[in-house]
Amino acid sequence: MIGVFDSGLGGLTVLRALVERFPKQGFTYLGDHANVPYGNRESDEVVALTRTGVEYLFDRGCALVILGCNTATAVAARQLQQSWLPNSKWNNGHNILGIVAPTVEAATQTPWAVTAPQYPQKNNTDDIAVFGTTRTIQSGVYPEEIRKRCPKVRLTEQICAGLAGAIEDGRDDASLDPFVEDAVNKALAKLNGNTPDQVILGCTHFPLVEHLFRKHLPTETRILSQPKIVADSLEDYLGRHSAYCSADAPSTTVLLTTGSAAAIDQRARVFWPEVPPFASVG
Ligand code: DGL
Repeated sequence: MIGVFDSGLGGLTVLRALVERFPKQGFTYLGDHANVPYGNRESDEVVALTRTGVEYLFDRGCALVILGCNTATAVAARQLQQSWLPNSKWNNGHNILGIVAPTVEAATQTPWAVTAPQYPQKNNTDDIAVFGTTRTIQSGVYPEEIRKRCPKVRLTEQICAGLAGAIEDGRDDASLDPFVEDAVNKALAKLNGNTPDQVILGCTHFPLVEHLFRKHLPTETRILSQPKIVADSLEDYLGRHSAYCSADAPSTTVLLTTGSAAAIDQRARVFWPEVPPFASVG
């Protein structure tokens, strides 16, 4: 069983891509609806909440947990992977994967293990714009990791205040469009007339409004789709770590929430029309 953790419903965009890519794999999803959104919380809180979610999924039998949330990944992944996990009772083959690494790999066309500029990417002068929550953007993780590999890339970051929460609340396109238009216009203004070559939608809620980003971005701009990127990356990872595969087990998808399942089921269908029902955990 592989666990997928998110602050709320956004990680369903990732889970859906994983279920479609790995039809024989079991997945358990945990949305921390009792504490969503994470994007405006203090870093210490995000680390503590993410650790609690990961522990819960480990306890449920998930040896591998994917943080299907940029905020949790940007703020907590490194600390949990490097400081907490090795000193925990889970240091026996359990692992945590974030979603920043595969996104940086896709944006820079450079493997994560390569942390210095290498030909031909060292001469890459792309303009890349990153959109995310307040906490993800303030973490600086995307510019830090992209510049290590592609120091000549020009990065623009834009906080999309309130957008993840508005999507989580199930607002319609007409009311979400002004959030996206405002964020895109602010990012484009910082680019002084340059067209971004690539855009990273650095929040797992944002694939739901990718069409609105598409509408406001220049047509030449490539939008990186995190659900597909994470599915590609997991396929590669499981090829090298087959112990995490449950290909012979019944392919169940279990959805759990720290909030009220009844309140969430209907909104979840906006993220994934065929989504199985949620169950509440205490
Ligand atoms: N979906 C989460 C992300 O990818 C953030 C939503 C939140 O603020 O909780 O960053």
